[in-house]
Amino acid sequence: MDKQQTILILNGPNLNLLGNRETEIYGSQTLGKIEAECRAHSDKLGYKIEFLQSNSEGDLVDWIQEAENNISGLIINPAAYTHTSVAIMDALKQLNCPIVEVHLSNIFTREPFRHHSYVSPVAKGVICGFGSNSYVLALNAIKKLISKEGDF
Ligand code: DQA
Repeated sequence: MDKQQTILILNGPNLNLLGNRETEIYGSQTLGKIEAECRAHSDKLGYKIEFLQSNSEGDLVDWIQEAENNISGLIINPAAYTHTSVAIMDALKQLNCPIVEVHLSNIFTREPFRHHSYVSPVAKGVICGFGSNSYVLALNAIKKLISKEGDF
């Protein structure tokens, strides 16, 4: 991977079911469609993306560890592991590039157990509630963080 240009986008469990899964909450877009949108948008921004999904916490930890010196930024939708995974939080702490947490749904308007995230304390920021557009907004945010544009 080319460190200057690659943004890693990681997706956690059950996001492979998007399009069929609780469409009233997550919308009707498949993960493949979201990936295509991210590719089109990152092309415009001038970055390459690597887009991965796993139902396994260990895969996500492995990918974060392997990425350590190879990426310019990380966007992660940890899905249900958001609310449970100390392992993913610890792995993210080792990264020295910007991290943006994303969610399709607004986790703060949902069940109380979704209001806590183990990932937010180690992320630069969180984007949630905009459906698949959360990913596009996250790409815009991470571009600014990587290129150190703006005040944040
Ligand atoms: C999610 C929100 C999580 O609470 C949930 O477990 C998911 C998806 C979202 O994108 O809205 O699987 O991360």
